[in-house]
Amino acid sequence: MTGNPARLPRPFDLADRAAYRDWRERKLAAYPATVAELIVEVADPARLTERERAALLERCTRSNMAVYASPPRETADPDTPRRIGAQLGLHTLDVNYLADDDGITPLAVTETGTRSAYIPYTNRAIRWHTDGYYNAPERRIRAMILHCVQRADSGGENRVLDHELAYIALRDADPEHIRALMSPDAMTIPARSEEGEVARGDQTGPVFSVTEDGRLHMRYTARTRSIAWKDDRAVQAATIALQQILETDAHVLRLLMEPGMGLVCNNVLHDRAAFTDSGAHRRLILRARYYEAISER
Ligand SMILES: [Fe+2]
Repeated sequence: MTGNPARLPRPFDLADRAAYRDWRERKLAAYPATVAELIVEVADPARLTERERAALLERCTRSNMAVYASPPRETADPDTPRRIGAQLGLHTLDVNYLADDDGITPLAVTETGTRSAYIPYTNRAIRWHTDGYYNAPERRIRAMILHCVQRADSGGENRVLDHELAYIALRDADPEHIRALMSPDAMTIPARSEEGEVARGDQTGPVFSVTEDGRLHMRYTARTRSIAWKDDRAVQAATIALQQILETDAHVLRLLMEPGMGLVCNNVLHDRAAFTDSGAHRRLILRARYYEAISER
């Protein structure tokens, strides 16, 4: 690091093109070519062996995400995501008011009650986003886990893209896109807008930011309602470019989770396809969101 604390870590500093070039090259070389490269077979996600844990961490280092595949179980132990998280350095759960008391949220089609008003609890498609993009900075979601208890009869696929790859595609297209999306007022989420989060004021902030430990963080939603983008040409151009990248970039991976599988990630970009349940296949995903990033513990 330089002596200037205000300076961004070098790969994310637009003035340091050499550092960016080196980081970009290493990042692209390590990025998985297929979703199969993300998958680690584990016997019991709640009790990873040292080897399984190392394999998951290695993938998270390469692409900010990993997928475990374990034998399906008849009943869902709601504690599973928490136990996986604890083995990957994740300890502080984000609790929103729709989550069960313990901060683990069961995502399934819900016909009645408060949850039924929000897209995650329907069988509809969810557009590209990172989790908690509407959270205040002190509740920044840095990692999350999606554990599949049951899949839908059809559909429900997730597309995923490491947000660092989105950064690269945007910066390669035009560094001004990055400058625009790092501006502190790039996007505003009006109060009480999303997923049943508790009432709170408008959340204005950047799309890309760099955390104290030098990692890139991204807040984003492709939705067009309940979000106000900065009325500025550069921001408009950047969001259009980003939408295009999310639809066309070759690094976007497709993941259809079977029971016993799960995604662990540093809050990468993801979406969800619409799905259809049946009596035997009623989609149930347990979700956990954390304030820490995945680490050695
Ligand atoms: Fe999500």
